[in-house]
Amino acid sequence: MPLVSTKQILEEARKKSYGVGAYNVNNMEQVQAIMAAAKETQSPVIIQASRGALRYSNFTYLGYLMKAAVIEGFDIPVAMHLDHGNSLESAVEAINLGFSSVMIDGSLLEDGKTVSTYDYNVKVTNLVVEYAHARGVSVEAEIGTLSGIEDGVGSGKIHLTDPYEAKKFVSETGIDSLAIAVGTSHGAYKFKGSVNLDFNVLKKIRSLIDIPIVLHGASSVPKELINEVNKYGGRMMGTSGVPISSLQEAIKLGVSKINVDTDGRLAITAAIRKVFTEAPDKFDPRDYLGPARTALTNLIITKMKDFGTAGHAKDYFPLSLEDIKRQYNF
Ligand code: G3H
Ligand code: 13P
Ligand code: ZN
Repeated sequence: MPLVSTKQILEEARKKSYGVGAYNVNNMEQVQAIMAAAKETQSPVIIQASRGALRYSNFTYLGYLMKAAVIEGFDIPVAMHLDHGNSLESAVEAINLGFSSVMIDGSLLEDGKTVSTYDYNVKVTNLVVEYAHARGVSVEAEIGTLSGIEDGVGSGKIHLTDPYEAKKFVSETGIDSLAIAVGTSHGAYKFKGSVNLDFNVLKKIRSLIDIPIVLHGASSVPKELINEVNKYGGRMMGTSGVPISSLQEAIKLGVSKINVDTDGRLAITAAIRKVFTEAPDKFDPRDYLGPARTALTNLIITKMKDFGTAGHAKDYFPLSLEDIKRQYNF
């Protein structure tokens, strides 16, 4: 298929109560791994690039790799999404590059660090919605802020989403999906002690708004991956993430889009470190980027099954080529 919007993917997921992972990309191997997993499990998929990732690739390169996924994955519904757009300009850039969906994260100012006012958030979101909707592109926005600081996407402060503010925000902006803060956090070092997602806040938001809900900072940071990274010379201590059981509970309570970047980074790093440790004579990038791509594919296959996305690509194509031929006795 065809490129689809996240609005289409998430409304479909909401109807059937499953979650769709949105996986971050920076390079060809990541794009290919996501598509391999989507094909293997027959899942619709959201491929997302952050501003940092687009900058790193000089925009056009990553944009075209994502487009290649859309073309090559012809029987998989794919959305191309801008993650954490910080301004009207960043959204326009992505839309002009052919993205079908953008996030405007107006919960922070353009520096990506300073918590903004509600009025600022509404204003910048309105601008993006106006531009995007006129071009058939869907818009995700955020209300509340996550803790955890990534490259230009975090204040380090937690402001759980106020459900009534969320309701007002949705009606004042006309967005297609809403990212909320219920205790998750970006990166590999998410929580001190145990994870505590506020499911009551989530339930309240779900009861007040009628658009798909997005959970950022949703990597599980599996111990096995951290152990693997450390076994091959890494030094990652005191990490923790959101257990899959909490994500499944969140999906049950109404979350449709689940943002995953860190777990993919860990899978790639572990695989590359393993090659460098076990075969220090290797120097062809394909010898370590290939295993990294396979490790990422396997990770995403598991997530697609765990989130319930697996098997739902066919919902977009009620008739296969064989069905059509049969129907016309061809
Ligand atoms: O939420 C942030 C994503 O993990 C993207 O991170 O800005 O370092 O590409 P990045
Ligand atoms: P993680 O750091 O938990 O993978 O979150 C990624 C994310 O929210 C991308 O927008
Ligand atoms: Zn995020």
